[in-house]
Amino acid sequence: MTANAAPQAAGVSGGAGVPRHVAIIMDGNGRWAKKRFLPRVAGHRAGVEAVRRAVKAAPRIGIEVLTLYAFSSENWKRPADEVSDLMGLLKHYLQSEIDELHENGIRLKFIGDHSRLSAELVKLLQKSAERTAGNTRMTLVLALNYGSQDELARAVRGLIADGTPAEQVTEEAIAARLDTADLPLPDLIIRTSGEQRLSNFLLWQAAYAELAFTDELWPDFNEASLQRLVDEYLRRERRYGGL
Ligand code: FPP
Repeated sequence: MTANAAPQAAGVSGGAGVPRHVAIIMDGNGRWAKKRFLPRVAGHRAGVEAVRRAVKAAPRIGIEVLTLYAFSSENWKRPADEVSDLMGLLKHYLQSEIDELHENGIRLKFIGDHSRLSAELVKLLQKSAERTAGNTRMTLVLALNYGSQDELARAVRGLIADGTPAEQVTEEAIAARLDTADLPLPDLIIRTSGEQRLSNFLLWQAAYAELAFTDELWPDFNEASLQRLVDEYLRRERRYGGL
């Protein structure tokens, strides 16, 4: 079975077969800064610019859902000042971009365990999600304090807490409890900076996703980078375990 349409000319956007859901592991901010003899926070700031570019480019290409791995449950192991810089950048991004995101028809959604985030940030996440809930041009999903194994454990704990009988703990029942329950599965998962691993990102949801790795560091990522990886995806044949 070929789920994608025939390969398209490079640069074609919004056509049949364009991945509905693209998820990105944004990696390489630190190396980008190091190459320039700058502090790591400068790499993260440049990373926010790349986020802005990706969020503008994705709906133009025809992507319906863009998920960005903004802060993993393992990122707490970083020095406290870096964690605080990342949280500050996220807060600033949401505060400064929300009007434009809303005007551009972007719906915001957040996945992850937010119990460890500051009450102020959680309030901002709720406000941003509520304000943009009716938008339909694209859904931007930010994964914050997200870890796939934690997400699965939370889903199973929820089933047990509700007294679900063992025979009802099915794939569907688990999927319905994941943070991503109301989203299409990712078609394409991208990781920048040359690393080739998933790092606890969307492990369940990645079952049939195409994986794409690029050597570009996240702060260098732009619309052309995304279009090139989508074009590469369009040339692949997805079989979903069939022939
Ligand atoms: C990885 O680079 C990147 C992160 C840990 C966080 C990504 C965060 C941003 C791009 C900024 C905030 C996000 C939003 C959505 C506004 P790294 O530091 O691991 O790089 P390295 O591997 O080169 O050290």
